[in-house]
Amino acid sequence: MIERIAGKNEVRFAVAEARGEGRTIALVPTMGALHEGHLSLARAARTRADFIVASVFVNPTQFGPGEDFDRYPRTVEADLELLGDEGVDVAFVPSAEAMYQDGTDVTVSPGLLAERWEGACRPGHFAGAATVVAKLFNLVSPDLAFFGEKDYQQLRVIAQMACELDFGVTVVGCPTVRDHDGLALSSRNINLSASERAAALGLPEALEAAARAVAWGETSAAAIEAEMREVTDGHADAGLSIDYAAVVDPMTLEPLETLEAAARVLIAGRVGSTHLIDNCALIPAGGTS
Ligand code: PAJ
Repeated sequence: MIERIAGKNEVRFAVAEARGEGRTIALVPTMGALHEGHLSLARAARTRADFIVASVFVNPTQFGPGEDFDRYPRTVEADLELLGDEGVDVAFVPSAEAMYQDGTDVTVSPGLLAERWEGACRPGHFAGAATVVAKLFNLVSPDLAFFGEKDYQQLRVIAQMACELDFGVTVVGCPTVRDHDGLALSSRNINLSASERAAALGLPEALEAAARAVAWGETSAAAIEAEMREVTDGHADAGLSIDYAAVVDPMTLEPLETLEAAARVLIAGRVGSTHLIDNCALIPAGGTS
């Protein structure tokens, strides 16, 4: 049976008890409106730990003014049922008042990694996300924490934070789960109309074009990005506008000119008022990941 906990002291207590029994603790942070992508993290956690805490908290501090905090989908009861079915032990579901009862003045500064790409499109986003994850790390002190590659820059920001701030937690990245048509699962997908969804497919199609170009031996980032632009331009009339599409170093996220080793391609765009991101690995022909 999953236990729903709203209080910070209560979650600390539940974890201390599990640790006292010698259990390995895993944390799966989420903002709820759960789908198979989130559940894949819970499943991965289950294989590596024997006490799983999932948090469900729409974190206000990672949304900018005019972003979709108010209309972010909230489906807590269904989320708890899904997490229970995956064998999650504790769902930590705090109110914003409880989470930030002592204030929001002190924040994590996530450094250079957070400045480009999503950081440039959404100022303050990664400071908010890193801060709430730091708070969750402090409350749960997990041995392992699971994050999706779907939010690749977030995964890198959190992994670097955990390392540089000595949280002593192993950050585990899990592969992106996609819908049958290739669109990466996202809580925001339910905001898409049928025609908007068709336009959004420009993102995974552009990633496929990039991977195909690399498989054919292309190593110029500019040429790979041009292949992607050709695909996304084809969806422009349907309403897709691209914020960025870039071939980057998989660790620093700095743009690359030439693909010499495994890289990452990041893409983000808007369809109507919905912001969508996606990414995939690029392995040069004959190379390894
Ligand atoms: P949220 O968007 O709910 O995502 C929670 C976790 O699920 C993140 O690690 C995200 O990368 C992962 N995820 C989302 N869609 C996925 C997919 N299609 N495949 C695999 N994993 C997927 O990311 C956040 O919440 C917040 O920023 C949070 C880390 C909880 C801090 O508030």
